[in-house]
Amino acid sequence: MNMKINRKNILQVAVVAFILIFLIAILPMTKNMVLAEEQKPIKLSKPQMDGNPLLQLLAKRSSSRSFSSDTLPVNVLSNMLWAAFGINRPESDKRTAPSAKNLQEIDIYVTTAMGLYLYDARSDLLKPILGQDVRGLTGTQAFVKDAAVNLIYVADYSKMSSLSDEVKLMYAAADTGFISENVYLYCVSEGLSTVVRAGIDRQALAKVMGLRPDQRIILAQSVGYPVK
Ligand SMILES: Cc1cc2nc3c(=O)[nH]c(=O)nc-3n(C[C@H](O)[C@H](O)[C@H](O)COP(=O)(O)O)c2cc1C
Repeated sequence: MNMKINRKNILQVAVVAFILIFLIAILPMTKNMVLAEEQKPIKLSKPQMDGNPLLQLLAKRSSSRSFSSDTLPVNVLSNMLWAAFGINRPESDKRTAPSAKNLQEIDIYVTTAMGLYLYDARSDLLKPILGQDVRGLTGTQAFVKDAAVNLIYVADYSKMSSLSDEVKLMYAAADTGFISENVYLYCVSEGLSTVVRAGIDRQALAKVMGLRPDQRIILAQSVGYPVK
């Protein structure tokens, strides 16, 4: 038989070869795939609290909005701030909470009856910023003035200058969430009440704090002893 090789034959051979190569390539993947209806649910066990202090703390984590007038001893405040965003690996200057690209852009401002301070994790210091009780300005809810401490999480956008505004806010919000959860867990461990808050008059608070335009208030968090 006289096989006539023309462009159409070549194209057909190429298409068949392509399909064969494609099938050979996806064959190994199909070994690990099952149809959705064949996939069985995995029954999980209840949390095993015994001997696991972290699970025991998580079982008690909650928000509370009532605070007694008792102040926080300095050692409790120190431990809380270290738990929040302290340096846990001095050799690399890294922290108890993760931060996107290790930017460490969140600063923790601390308000007490004595005034406003900035947490300096490197020198274990609360640096004085304002000698005035501004706790009541850290939120729009009445209880905030009663909490012994109100933390204000402020993103330093100057450390994020290569990122778009959308990404800056996304990273800053996520990074604040990790810090806030550390504070929640420390508060459970010490019998303290706490609530993280977005309800803030940011413009008024930024003004009284003397923030730069490239500093953004993300959230605040009230902390104190519960009412007995
Ligand atoms: C991003 C964020 C913003 C919040 N803002 C406020 C707030 O402004 N005021 C407040 O009382 N609680 C606030 N909360 C606390 C939530 O209301 C609380 O976490 C929620 O009701 C669930 O309760 P739980 O923390 O006890 O599980 C906020 C929580 C988050 C995560």
